[in-house]
Amino acid sequence: LQQQPLIGKKYLITAGPTREAIDPVRFVTNHSSGKMGYALAEAAIEMGAEVTLITGPVNLTPPPKAKVIPVESAADMYDAVFDQFATSDVVIMTAAVADYKPKVYHTRKMKKQPGENVIEFERTKDILKELGENKTHQILVGFAAETNNVEEYARGKLVKKNADMIVANNVTVAGAGFGTDTNIVTIYDKDGSATELPKMSKADIAKSILEEVSRKQKE
Ligand code: PMT
Repeated sequence: LQQQPLIGKKYLITAGPTREAIDPVRFVTNHSSGKMGYALAEAAIEMGAEVTLITGPVNLTPPPKAKVIPVESAADMYDAVFDQFATSDVVIMTAAVADYKPKVYHTRKMKKQPGENVIEFERTKDILKELGENKTHQILVGFAAETNNVEEYARGKLVKKNADMIVANNVTVAGAGFGTDTNIVTIYDKDGSATELPKMSKADIAKSILEEVSRKQKE
């Protein structure tokens, strides 16, 4: 049995949240801790891959052997991902990338005003979708963080983003999704199959995802 089935493969893994700044002191973000993405980076290295980890701001120590690129915003993440894309064999988009950012960045701290305040948001670029439109030889793995209709939305993302696999988690279930040390996922493959994994540590979930990817690379 091969201990390091990913030797010679370049993995690009994103992790953590993004921060979309409103002004120098405020930003909009989400609950991603980076644990799922860091577990994937760790497992990929253990399995022999060369790993680039593009990470939003988190409180975790990256695996020493990873090449780490820290980013803040969705736009930073977009640039970092596309810098590395051409030379990657596999891209795993674990990061919880903001779908919206404030339309206006105030260069000075916004002062309190009487009454309500409305902040307008605009869409960020969909990194996974653009990767899907531009992939050549890469295997593209996306995640789907859902609160309802998980299978429908995950299968929709497979098609809309031209991904090879979507790892879906229902983030409202205890022990799954944001911040926890465990996750509960179903891996949807573009061949139509679905692999439902029981609640496991993020380390074990990561290994299972990578075994599926490794199997695909051999096809
Ligand atoms: O970090 P943890 O605390 O361990 O939590 C793990 C997790 C819940 C963050 C992770 O398991 C997960 O589900 N990650 C994906 C979060 C997410 O943004 O899901 P989504 O369904 O909104 O996005 C779908 C896919 O598109 C994702 O692969 C995402 O990286 C990607 N995306 C999203 C928006 C955007 N502008 N560009 C993207 O590429």
